[in-house]
Amino acid sequence: MTLTEKKYGEWALVAGGAVGMGGAYCDRLAQDGMNVVVCDRDAAELETKCAQLERDFGIRTVPVLVDLGATDALETVREKTDHLAIDVLVYNAGLASMALFTDRDIDYEMYRLNVNVRSLLALSLWFTRGMKDRGRGALILMSSVGGAIGTPYVQTYSATKAYALTLAEALWGELREYGIDVLGVLPGNTIGQNFSDVPPGTPGFQTGREVVDEAFVALGTDPTVIAGGHNRESIASTFDIGARKATIMVMKDRMRSILDQYGAGTDS
Ligand SMILES: NC(=O)c1ccc[n+]([C@@H]2O[C@H](COP(=O)([O-])OP(=O)(O)OC[C@H]3O[C@@H](n4cnc5c(N)ncnc54)[C@H](OP(=O)(O)O)[C@@H]3O)[C@@H](O)[C@H]2O)c1
Repeated sequence: MTLTEKKYGEWALVAGGAVGMGGAYCDRLAQDGMNVVVCDRDAAELETKCAQLERDFGIRTVPVLVDLGATDALETVREKTDHLAIDVLVYNAGLASMALFTDRDIDYEMYRLNVNVRSLLALSLWFTRGMKDRGRGALILMSSVGGAIGTPYVQTYSATKAYALTLAEALWGELREYGIDVLGVLPGNTIGQNFSDVPPGTPGFQTGREVVDEAFVALGTDPTVIAGGHNRESIASTFDIGARKATIMVMKDRMRSILDQYGAGTDS
């Protein structure tokens, strides 16, 4: 099913969209007729990507040069997008690296938190408000197979991806009644920023486009998708999407009845 058939409106935004998997999301959205706001931190790659999308698909683009690790990233994005109705948000940017936990640089881990968690939350909160008002939209959050289980040597990355996964599940349960489809995507090894030298077709690896196409099949149905049969097999025993989906609805009913009975709490 194309996005046009799903009636998401005219504009999508991909955070971390200039290259790799993010670039593949932009291509798929543009191919389905959506205009795309591309957010990225490399000016040359951003310009190249926007020109390619306009040339290949005849759609409009808005480039947003932004460091998603900066604490004012949402303000930078809003300066270029407040006049647009963004109906699809893909939060793709994510920083991964392997090291012993005790060797990690504390400042870099705070920066990783900003990119993988803080800006993901800020953009999700902001753009789903507009989607709710319009009664339609899609939110795709990039998690990882490493977000489904605590994973040694990528420990801090794994924990940030658990955040993306859990938020996607919660919002899948909560926002569906407003016409907003939410999906957490769990890829394994994918040719993109990582593994850029691996040839397509190599066993155990997927291309970004393969992951994106699997995501758009699951969008609107499931809270999460594990991309790639080999990845589904490897974590099947710890991650049963059907069971989790049913439990999300149980938790939703439980929390909703408390909310209805006692009202929303305050954040102070
Ligand atoms: N690749 C894998 O094997 C794999 C596996 C599981 C999950 N994932 C997840 O899937 C997503 C895509 O991963 P990928 O490795 O394939 O990356 P990608 O989509 O190839 O590239 C990510 C894009 O985000 C941009 N970006 C990174 N940090 C940014 C920042 N601070 N501000 C603005 N833009 C920023 C990158 O720009 P630069 O070019 O400047 O870095 C790049 O254009 C990530 O969330 C990742 O954690 C990837």
